[in-house]
Amino acid sequence: MNSVLSYPFRGPYGDAKYRGNCSGYIIKDLLEHYRPKNFLECFAGSGTGYDVARELGYENSIHLDLNDRFGQFNLLTDTIPAGADFVFSHPPYWNIVKYSGIKNVWGNQPHKDDLSHINDYSEFVDKLNLINKKIFKSIQSYGRHAILIGDIRRNGKYYSIIKDMKWYGDLEAHLIKIQHNTLSQNKRYSNNNFIPIAHEHLLVFRKTPDYL
Ligand SMILES: C[S@@+](CC[C@H](N)C(=O)[O-])C[C@H]1O[C@@H](n2cnc3c(N)ncnc32)[C@H](O)[C@@H]1O
Repeated sequence: MNSVLSYPFRGPYGDAKYRGNCSGYIIKDLLEHYRPKNFLECFAGSGTGYDVARELGYENSIHLDLNDRFGQFNLLTDTIPAGADFVFSHPPYWNIVKYSGIKNVWGNQPHKDDLSHINDYSEFVDKLNLINKKIFKSIQSYGRHAILIGDIRRNGKYYSIIKDMKWYGDLEAHLIKIQHNTLSQNKRYSNNNFIPIAHEHLLVFRKTPDYL
């Protein structure tokens, strides 16, 4: 593993049809690299992290999401189980893909605490900060939080979520993940003045003694 990640195939984990899913190889590589004892995943979506954890023998891993599959766990209001030494999280990229609701990914109606239904960017970042703070508080001393998140361009404006969000813990690594098969890669733009986004960020934060 080095600081550039590229997985042309997502692997046999989770559900490729769940919009905004990630490749299981990211989670697999992180778990094989850090070898944590207790693994917890936030925004578990289609079960990508769950499938990787089972393959690697993490019988007691914990996977949380607002959808039915993961018990409608609400990261804004519910208490995150404490004690993991490694947390992987993959939040919505603002409202690019809406999750709850009949024409969306799951459920019959939009859920009031689904981050992907927040239209105001600052409110989205505030709520993401709140969840990141809770995750950081829940991890063990010297534990890690790895967050996968992308940038967005909308109406000609560039939004860097990693720049705008608060950082909890010491930044231990910043990896760039190359995006494959995105809709924007196949799209022809009338304005070819900008460079299409073809990467995501994976930040790894550590709970060092400064934060204990
Ligand atoms: C980018 S997807 C995660 C995809 C996942 N990594 C996969 O490969 O399937 C983001 C997830 O955030 C969940 N979500 C949105 N708001 C939430 C909240 N308040 N609490 C818990 N999960 C939430 C959505 O249901 C969605 O599954």
